[in-house]
Parts: sequence; structure tokens; C-alpha cells
Amino acid sequence: MTDFLWRKDGGEAGPDEVVMEFLAGEDVQLDRELLLFDLRASAAHANGLAQIGILDDEENARLQAELRALAEEYRAGRLALGPPFEDGHSAIESWLSERLGALGAKIHTGRSRNDQVAVALRLYLKDRLGRLQDACVRVATVLLERAQRDQSIPMPGYTHLQRAMPSSAALWLAGHAEAFIDNAELAALVRGWLDASPLGTASGFGVNLPLPRQAVAAELGFARLVLNPQCAQNSRGKIELQAMAALAAATLDLRRLAWDLSLFATREFGFVRLPPRYCTGSSIMPNKNNPDTVELLRATHAVVVGAQAELQAVLDLPSGYHRDLQATKAPLLRAFRGGLQALALLPELLEAFEWQEDRMRAAITPELFATDRATRRAARGQPFREAYRAVAADLETGAAPDVEASLAERVSLGACAEPALELLAERLRGLKPTAEAPT
Ligand code: ARG
Repeated sequence: MTDFLWRKDGGEAGPDEVVMEFLAGEDVQLDRELLLFDLRASAAHANGLAQIGILDDEENARLQAELRALAEEYRAGRLALGPPFEDGHSAIESWLSERLGALGAKIHTGRSRNDQVAVALRLYLKDRLGRLQDACVRVATVLLERAQRDQSIPMPGYTHLQRAMPSSAALWLAGHAEAFIDNAELAALVRGWLDASPLGTASGFGVNLPLPRQAVAAELGFARLVLNPQCAQNSRGKIELQAMAALAAATLDLRRLAWDLSLFATREFGFVRLPPRYCTGSSIMPNKNNPDTVELLRATHAVVVGAQAELQAVLDLPSGYHRDLQATKAPLLRAFRGGLQALALLPELLEAFEWQEDRMRAAITPELFATDRATRRAARGQPFREAYRAVAADLETGAAPDVEASLAERVSLGACAEPALELLAERLRGLKPTAEAPT
């Protein structure tokens, strides 16, 4: 490898190994997740340089071929990114120089590592938000299909964790489905919001070259530019936070769903049987069968929220680039890695768990019909408060409760008799899969 990019002829020695180790931290390892995006952006930048005559066609063709080769070798595991490279950006320039001699170093004309990392991160975020959107769509699709299938399964509804009213498995399933449709839409919105290229802003002040920024951005699939070079730097960390907010919306709902399942799977509730594939045993208690997968799905949100706080804390900075910004990468990558892995497990789990219908029916005790009875009286003309008191005084009597009849009467839009699953399916169909290049 070549020396540090910033080493000057006859310059002072600079940081020794100990200090370098501190400066690099785990940065070069983290860049493994960004390298392919960096290579793509580097190719687009070279095309831009060719367009304005900084590279001739032959030079550009050689650079393009080598950048493609690097990506292929990296994907195939034949090219390792790690120390002693300072970061992925240095590695790219160093590999190119090794293979192309002086031409390799021409790639860095008119760019800084500051816009290089910013553009790689934007490409990464677009990719991961696309995956988040698709993951939420998959979760919502399974939930909605199950809601359709499980419409005849009654279930007690809870508030305050106390039995409240007769409800249904379908209402629970469709409720979570709608939440994940919201989450998919949020991911798409944030993706559109940050779909802007900072490439060509260099270190935060632009360059004295007529870089074809629009054309380069279009080649990379960006919808627009971050125009102002200072804004390009100041948005670092801020856009990551919004992406993580979209992720956190999904993991928040994941946490609630997992909470429900872990409760429903207890002997006390007994509403749900989790397939053995998702459970583990105890090292000491031979009788145990624990819902560990569901519990770690629940904990995913904690990891994301912790990462949000860590990233937020780094952003206490004045304008422009600061090396502190490097510390935004670890929490970002950690959150998306964990969040997307957890969400990917969900569809099969939701497909596979079994309802224990007898236990659910047995838990729908007569007092749960009290609200239906009070509302029925009110519909016949009794002032609701009077009806409420009359039913409260006599909770256990009235016609023998019939759960099917109760659910069939619940005709307000979205409720058990009118679940409007088709309307939800329509929203889902509006969320087209994202078509990102595989990385
Ligand atoms: N690893 C650095 C980061 O993530 C790359 C940019 C370095 N820029 C610089 N001016 N030292 O921020």
C-alpha cells in the first residue's frame, strides 16, 4: 500500500502508530459496509472528470474498468479492507495507484474525503431505507394475509392488561399490519427526503472546476443535489438521524408485537404456541422452553434507540467538517444491521405461530360484553350514562353472551365486522419494491 494520502514530501512525521490507531478506531472496518457505494460514486466522479476534460477517454476507460474490477473482487472476497489502510477512501486510491500508476491518483481531483464519505453514506442510506421499506411491506403482507385467514378466531381485547371487550385475532393482526404499512411509508418518505447528492462539494467549499454535478448525481440515481457545500457537510449525521428515526418507528412496533407474543405465549395466557424453531431451553431447568427469539426481537428497539442517542451526542458541532463526524458511522451501521436482521425474521415467525383458539374463547368471560350491552341500550334511546350504570349494576346477566354475534355487530369501519382489509391491501400495493443495485 502507499503512504497516507495526506503525507507531504519532506513533511513532519505526524502521528505515530499509537495515535494512528486511535484516529482510525474501527473506521476502516466500518468502511467495509460502505466500500461498494464508495466505488460506485468514484466511478461516477471519474465520468464527471472525463466530461470536463480532466481525464481523457482512455484514462477514464481504464479507471472505470479498474473500479469495476475492484468491486467484483471485493464482492467475491478476494480484496480485503482493513488496517493498515486508514479508511476505505485511502484504500480505493491506493489500489488504483498500485494497478494504474500515476493515473490512479488522478481520481481524487476535485473531491475531498469529506464529500466522498458523504456521498457513500447517502447511497448507503438510500439502500438501507429501501430495504427497510421492503421489510416492512413483507411484514405487513403476512399480517394482512393472516388477518384474512384468521377472521373467525375471537380473542379478548385488553386495556391496562385487563380484559376489556371481545375482539378478534384478525383485529390484532390487522392492527399490526397497518402500523407496518405506516412504517414502510415513513421509510419511503425519508428516503425521498435525503435523496440528494453531496458529491462535488469537496471539503465543504466547492472547487475551482466546472464539475458536472447534476450529471454525476443523475448517474448515481439521485433525485437532486445538495447545492450548498456547507450544507452538504452540516447535514452529515442529521440525515442519519432521520433514517434511524424511520428504523426506530419499525422497531418500536416490532417491540410491541414481540411483547404481545411473549405474553400470549405464557402458560397464563396460553393464546399462542411459538414454533420450536424460535425457542430455546434452560441450562438448568429441564422443563423450560423459552421464547428467546421473540425477546431479542423486542430488544432490537433498545439497540436502535441507544444508537440514536450516541449519534445525537456527536452532533454538538459548529459548521463544516470535523473528525468527530466519523463517530456517527458506528451507531448508524449497528442500528441498521441489527434492525434489518430482526425485521427479516418476522414474516416467517408471523406465518408460523399457532393460535390456541380454545384458550382465547375461554378468556372471553361474560362481563366483557358490558360495553356492547350499554351501547345497544343507548342505540334504543336510553341516555348512554344511564345505560352504562344499569349494565354496571348487573354485569353478569343479560342474554347469554354470544361472541360471534358481538363481533358481527361491531360494524364501525375498521372494527371486527368491517375490518376493511382491502383498503389496507390497497395501501400496501402502493408501495412499490425499491430497485437498488445489490451491494
Ligand atoms: N473517516 C472519515 C469520516 O468518516 C473520512 C473523512 C476524513 N476527512 C478528513 N478531513 N479527515 O469522517
